[in-house]
Amino acid sequence: MTAAPPRTVLGLETSCDETSAAVVQDGPGGPRLASCVILSQDVHRVYRGVVPELASRAHLTAIGDVADRALADAGLTMGEVDLFAVTEGPGLVGALLVGVSYAKGLALATGAPLVGVHHLEGHLFGTALEDPAAVPPFVALLVSGGHSMLLDAPAWGRYRLLGETRDDAVGEAFDKVGSLLGLGYPGGPAIEREAARGDPARYRFPRPMLHGGQRPGDNDYFDLSMSGLKTAVIRAVRAAGDIDLERAHLARGFQDAVIDVLVAKTLRAIQATGRTRVVLSGGVACNQALRAALGAALAERGATLHAPSPRLATDNAAMIARAGLFRAAEAGRPVDAAARLPFPGLERP
Ligand code: KG4
Ligand code: ZN
Repeated sequence: MTAAPPRTVLGLETSCDETSAAVVQDGPGGPRLASCVILSQDVHRVYRGVVPELASRAHLTAIGDVADRALADAGLTMGEVDLFAVTEGPGLVGALLVGVSYAKGLALATGAPLVGVHHLEGHLFGTALEDPAAVPPFVALLVSGGHSMLLDAPAWGRYRLLGETRDDAVGEAFDKVGSLLGLGYPGGPAIEREAARGDPARYRFPRPMLHGGQRPGDNDYFDLSMSGLKTAVIRAVRAAGDIDLERAHLARGFQDAVIDVLVAKTLRAIQATGRTRVVLSGGVACNQALRAALGAALAERGATLHAPSPRLATDNAAMIARAGLFRAAEAGRPVDAAARLPFPGLERP
């Protein structure tokens, strides 16, 4: 006799600077988000970047209360959880270890199984919790502080890498340019605010890895790169004189360049694969200007954009619980925190 499939999953996510726990419940209507608690660690703002030791310590302090809160919000007790799902990598190893150890403890105490989830596969599942149409086949544009990739997903668990960044992740570029412009950490939301007031004609920055001569099959056709753009912004900042007068225009020039590249590469991806759905994920998916530009460009080609709300775009445990439900059959294999971890089911060109 095989065990009944799990219905109630508690997810835990501690790979970077968000301590998060969430409950996803499966039912006749499909998986449903019952609760999601995200505690963003504020301490890193002071240092303008994530300090790994401080992240681990903050996770350790918060994880128990965050998990209890997620259960209470869902109206459940720990004994009612059928499956624990935890991010095992990639990420900061000390931070991951807090979630993994805590999850192992819960599994041991309750007797419910534990499954390890790949953080990036988790990001692909987040949008589907709010938008039932955000399911394969789709093209995914995954743009966060640590990763930037364009994938083709013919089915859950089967992914083909189309392109990825050759240097900085897109969110990382937002953070670095934010810091150049004297904005706080993280840079993304601050740049977006400044850019909204900026003149789009004042600065025209290069669109890296984007030119008309590229053909499908060229190794830079889908790839991204942020370093040339960053250098161009550094030069412009030096030449700008009074940064207070130029900040909004520089932010606008930078953001427009990033958006142009992301939209063009995503259009190439739907053309090459024939997909009609694009799932946007990762912290940069919070950017409203990107969502508007991408949504409009896709609509012109008869394709749809599926973008999560901000809480499910940035790191959260709901996406981990949802991915854990998909990976439930793997419960029982050893789970270990790993800074680097191969993306399950990912085929590289
Ligand atoms: O997915 P995420 O929360 O963490 C990682 O897994 O990296 O992404 C965080 C990144 C940061 O680099 C942040 O600057 C960026 O997402 N971000 C944004 C916006 N909000 C967050 N980038 C551009 N525009 C935004 N509104
Ligand atoms: Zn992430």
